[in-house]
Amino acid sequence: MNGYKNTQAGTKAAKSCREQRKDSDNYPENENSRTNLLNRLYDEAAGDPRIFWENRATELLSCSRRWDTVVEGDFATGGLRWFSGAELNASVNCLDRHLQNGRGKKAALIWQGENESDATVFTYEMLHREVCRFANVLKKKGVAKGDCVSLYLPMVPELVVAILACARIGAIHNVVFSGFSSVSLQARLHQCKSKILITADAVNRAGRALPLKANADEALDDCPDIKSCVVVRCSKREVQMVPDRDSWFHEEMASPDIGDQCPAEEMAADDTLFILYTSGATGRPKAVAHSTAGYLLYVMYTCKVVFDLKEDELFWCTADIAWITGHSYSVYGVLGLGGTSLIYEGIPLYPDPGRYWSIVEKYKVNIIYTAPTVIRALMKFGTAPVEKYDLSSLRLLGSVGEPINAEAWRWYHDIIGKKKLRIADTWWQTETGGVMISPLVASPPEKAGAAAHPLPGISAMVVDELGQQVERGRPGRLVITSPWPGMFKEILRARKKTDRRGGAVTSTGYDTGDGARKDQDGYYWITGRVDDVINVSGHRLGTVEIESALLTHKSVAEAAVVGIPHSLKGQAVYAYVILKSSFEQSGELLEELRDHVRAMIGPVATPDVIQYAEMLPKTRSGKIMRRVLKKIAADEYEHIGDVTALADPSLIVDLVEGKKKH
Ligand code: WT7
Repeated sequence: MNGYKNTQAGTKAAKSCREQRKDSDNYPENENSRTNLLNRLYDEAAGDPRIFWENRATELLSCSRRWDTVVEGDFATGGLRWFSGAELNASVNCLDRHLQNGRGKKAALIWQGENESDATVFTYEMLHREVCRFANVLKKKGVAKGDCVSLYLPMVPELVVAILACARIGAIHNVVFSGFSSVSLQARLHQCKSKILITADAVNRAGRALPLKANADEALDDCPDIKSCVVVRCSKREVQMVPDRDSWFHEEMASPDIGDQCPAEEMAADDTLFILYTSGATGRPKAVAHSTAGYLLYVMYTCKVVFDLKEDELFWCTADIAWITGHSYSVYGVLGLGGTSLIYEGIPLYPDPGRYWSIVEKYKVNIIYTAPTVIRALMKFGTAPVEKYDLSSLRLLGSVGEPINAEAWRWYHDIIGKKKLRIADTWWQTETGGVMISPLVASPPEKAGAAAHPLPGISAMVVDELGQQVERGRPGRLVITSPWPGMFKEILRARKKTDRRGGAVTSTGYDTGDGARKDQDGYYWITGRVDDVINVSGHRLGTVEIESALLTHKSVAEAAVVGIPHSLKGQAVYAYVILKSSFEQSGELLEELRDHVRAMIGPVATPDVIQYAEMLPKTRSGKIMRRVLKKIAADEYEHIGDVTALADPSLIVDLVEGKKKH
């Protein structure tokens, strides 16, 4: 069996975690002192930003060599770089320095398996040991500084161990969501040129063990660069092990030549800590690279300023670690601060819709950070599953991933927060590294659904298509107007950009690709993407990616994908498909196409609706008019707007007729 699983029964783990959590100091105790702290930060940020960020780095980072400059370059000229000259290691910041500060016996990571009795607590000492050992395994496999290591793992502690082991030896980690298909995994492996893959036999989901190693095997069929594959045992599922390539994680870790210590590589501030794939407005997924010093500082800073994480508190970020939310707030932010992070392997509805709240009660979680899509899914079951549990340990409720609708906000606040707790509705992106806009204690009361205010040190603006600031109350796109340490490296390197779509740097700043409005009181409201990206249950999907998947099916001549509002998922995928002339429209074919997208990308991308079309609305220059398709898909026929640019306006009637059949 897996080396970690069942090492302690759940109740024992919960008890020891409470004992091991060290009570202490150094954080402002009450709301007044916190308000003072935030006001001080806002005042300081209004001065020289270099001094502001230098002070934060001095407070929060441990570097073996101090930086020479805080920040070089700017948006207009490019070449932005943070903390040049500094040398540090992220795993040392997350582990070693806490051992030196007397936190060795404190719980660093609590893992709750989907099966109630599977749970483990790692103290900082234990986590340090496991990380060093796995770092030694990676070295034994030939991984060196600067190499990319791909991790295709479910929410098990080995994922955190592997992430920090990569950081320790200066390898760049690339975590791929375990819900992605073998095709998606393969595309990412090809792009990042990993020589090694860490995966698991299976993913435990709702009481079943779904194959994972088998997916990895399919992906590896055409990845000759991958020379080794280390497999974590998560179930009893039989798997094929390829001789000379595959080995078991627990066997590698138990090997007598693997030591408990592993010296940490000194990394330059700007060395890449990790890459993470996300969907952009154009075509295939893009790898977002984050730096070592800037990223680490920013996630620690935001973990303090947004969540006010205290020494003795337990933080539970429910996101999968494969997303940036998990990287920043299950791993680097919380562990950087020496806090305790809880991770849960399973889904919110298993074995029943009270599961999250049973975990809150069991471990006495203080801060829960989840997504509106989860809240909406749980709301459906009413208050009974919540009322069974004692949620009095909760102090703060976080939300991320998409705008939180007023109904979900209210339920979260009233039923989970008992009308007393604050909701931190945090807006940010993979590209920004950490939270950028959120209500803070010092702000006046939250408005349900407003991400509220940029954090101290962050400047934002709402602009029109020409990049001019719009008046308060009017919609526009959200631009971040001054550099911040958590910004991703590709942007740092971008010299000049003419592309005004999402994720672009202009001389005004970083264009987020999100629509926003700043109200008369100065609160920011995020209205969703303005580019070709769909947000399904908090997963960012590129329309072009899904179209490309459809186009690989033998029957499809043309495809166009748009997002439509969905009561649970936020948005759902709606696809228009034109068949090749040799294929007949049929219900079976629609099913086949849905399965095809699921297999190509993963279940999150499966279209809710596929509509057959004879033609697609295009501009005279041949661009698909997604705006029109979106309106038709959402039944908003009256608001189709200006179609004079259309080559053939009559086809709108056909599309509307087609829609009505669904
Ligand atoms: C996109 C980023 C941030 C980590 C999780 C997703 C949307 C995210 C909010 C929010 C409104 C939000 C935006 C953003 N988004 N949080 N609180 N309110 N919209 O990271 O996959 O990079 O997606 O998620 O559209 O651009 P991501």
